[in-house]
Amino acid sequence: RKLVGKLSTGCVEFNEMMGGGIDTQAITEMYGEFGSGKTQVAHQLAVNVQLPKEQGGLDGSVIIIDTENTFRPERIKQMVEGLSEKYGQEYDYEEFLKHIHVARAFNSNHQILLVDSAMELANELKNSDKPVRLIIVDSLTAHFRAEYIGRGTLADRQQKLNKHLHGLQRFGDLFNACVVVTNQVMAKPDAFFGDPTKPIGGHIVGHTATFRLYLRKSKGDKRIVRLVDSPNLPDAEAIISVTTAGLRD
Ligand code: GTP
Ligand code: MG
Repeated sequence: RKLVGKLSTGCVEFNEMMGGGIDTQAITEMYGEFGSGKTQVAHQLAVNVQLPKEQGGLDGSVIIIDTENTFRPERIKQMVEGLSEKYGQEYDYEEFLKHIHVARAFNSNHQILLVDSAMELANELKNSDKPVRLIIVDSLTAHFRAEYIGRGTLADRQQKLNKHLHGLQRFGDLFNACVVVTNQVMAKPDAFFGDPTKPIGGHIVGHTATFRLYLRKSKGDKRIVRLVDSPNLPDAEAIISVTTAGLRD
C-alpha cells in the first residue's frame, strides 16, 4: 500500500478541514445545487495537481470525464495566471492544458467505459514525469438521472452507479490518485429524487465516497464547503471564494 498523498485546494481553511488536502486513494464527492462551485473547484484541482509538492501539488496530470461539457480551457488559463500572481513566478498555461486529459461522456454506459480508457492512459503515463494523480468525473450522476427515470429503474441505476464508483476507487488505489466526483442536488424538494439536501444516488454514493463535501452559495463569490460524515475527520465548514484568479480564501 502506498502512502496517501494530499492535493492542495489552494485554500487554507479548506485544506485544514481536509486534514491537509484532498486524499489520494479515496473518492471525494462534492455535492450541491447549480452554481455552488463544484465545477470551479474541479478546474482548480486540475491545475493544482500539476504543481510540485512544495506548492501543494502531486506533480501529476489529470483525467477529466466531462459529462455536461462544462470544461473550459479559458478558465484554466485564468487560474494559471492566478498562480503566477500568487507565487510570483511565471507559469505556462499551455503546459498545464497539455496535462489535462478531457474525455466527454455521451451517456452513462460510455461514462463507465471511459474509466477503462483512463486506466490505459494512466498506465501509459505511469513512468512519465507527469503520472496521472487525479481523476475527475463532473458530473457523476447527470446522465444517470436523465436516463433512469421512474421508480422501477432505481435499483438498476444504483447498481450501475455502484459499479462505476468501484471502478473509480480501483483507479485511485492503482495509481495513488485522487478521485473527485460531483453530484447535483436540487434547491427545492423533488417528487422523484426527494430530499434536496441528500445527494442523488443516495446511500450508494454516500457510502462509497470517503469524503463528502456539501457546497452551497453564500454572499457574492463566497461559497461554503461542509465536510459531511468523514470517517476520520470532524464535520466542519470552510469558506472559499471563487475569483477570476481561481479559488482563494
Ligand atoms: P452545476 O454544474 O450547474 O450543478 O453547478 P456547479 O456547482 O458546477 O457550479 P460552478 O462551479 O459552475 O459555479 C458557477 C459559479 O462559479 C458562477 O456562478 C460564478 O459565480 C463562478 N464562476 C464561474 N466561472 C467563473 C469565472 O470565469 N470567473 C469568476 N470570477 N467566477 C466564475
Ligand atoms: Mg458544474
